[in-house]
Amino acid sequence: MEQLFAALEGGLERLNSAPTTEALEAVRVELIGRKGLIAELSKGMGKLSPEERVATGKKLNEAKQTLEAAYEARQAAFKSAALMQRLEAEWLDLTVPPPGVAPGVIHPITQIQTEIEELFVSMGFAVLDGPEVETEWHNFDALNIPPTHPARDMQDTFWVEGGHLLRTHTSPVQVRGMQTFKPPFRMIAPGRVFRNEEVDASHEHTFTQLEGMMVDRDVSIANLTYFMKTLLAKIFGREDVTVRLRPGYFPFVEPGFELDIQCMVCEGSGCPVCKHSGWVELLPCGLVHPQVLKLGGLDPAEWGGFAFGLGLTRLVMMRYAIDDIRWINSGDLRFLNQFGGPRA
Ligand code: PHE
Repeated sequence: MEQLFAALEGGLERLNSAPTTEALEAVRVELIGRKGLIAELSKGMGKLSPEERVATGKKLNEAKQTLEAAYEARQAAFKSAALMQRLEAEWLDLTVPPPGVAPGVIHPITQIQTEIEELFVSMGFAVLDGPEVETEWHNFDALNIPPTHPARDMQDTFWVEGGHLLRTHTSPVQVRGMQTFKPPFRMIAPGRVFRNEEVDASHEHTFTQLEGMMVDRDVSIANLTYFMKTLLAKIFGREDVTVRLRPGYFPFVEPGFELDIQCMVCEGSGCPVCKHSGWVELLPCGLVHPQVLKLGGLDPAEWGGFAFGLGLTRLVMMRYAIDDIRWINSGDLRFLNQFGGPRA
């Protein structure tokens, strides 16, 4: 018995220092396995007196628990060491682009849209979103476009089942803005618009506009010109953009204008880009028609406003001298990759 207990003491040391999981298992079987040392010692207890049996049984139990605890601790140590080893061996850098996949670039329309949004937000404008599938009322009626207006023709408008349509401009978001905000307010609304057009080098069925609207007590053409000049200075990166206003007709503005910029290629002396006029038509705009304010729920005796509709697609084409609008929505990587790496 004494000898066997001594063997148990040595066993604890062997469990603690077993070099491998296999060695650990072998020591376990030897000591606390079904036919191990503890089991053997238990068998020997039959020969003892009842008092001795109680004392020895207690001792054996304690020894067994100590050994089991040591075994489990050692096993856990092996497990975590193995895990660390795997982590060392199998780590992955998830930020490395997979081989053969080219990183994307931000689309030039999105780039210019982001720039313009940042500018207008800094001047107190909210950025609004509107539905691409619109009601006829928001797209036409509320903008003072009568049912006889040619824009409602089957040729120009994509009609959707149930009397809805794909918005033909971003101006319906003006209406939603008037219904959403209490004046005074300033808002812009970038987004895709759709026209049922034959696609060619200068016409697309899907393009992008950026609507703007400011409603306040005394809004004048001077306000409109100020914001438009600020916008153009930002877009073209220069302070001295020369603009002119020509009368233009849109049922939802009165007076309505076409804002032209002096041609930046020839500085106004005439060239093919400006068709030798010295001016490039860029931005339809005007003061909001009283009827439109009324339909938007505002009192035209109290409130006035200006609105503009910037063609982002046209702008991108001018900025990068793109001569065919079909490149814009092509998704062609030869085109897109010219617009720099993805921006953070
Ligand atoms: N919605 C008009 C268009 O698409 C542009 C516009 C907007 C004109 C706002 C005046 C004021 O042609």
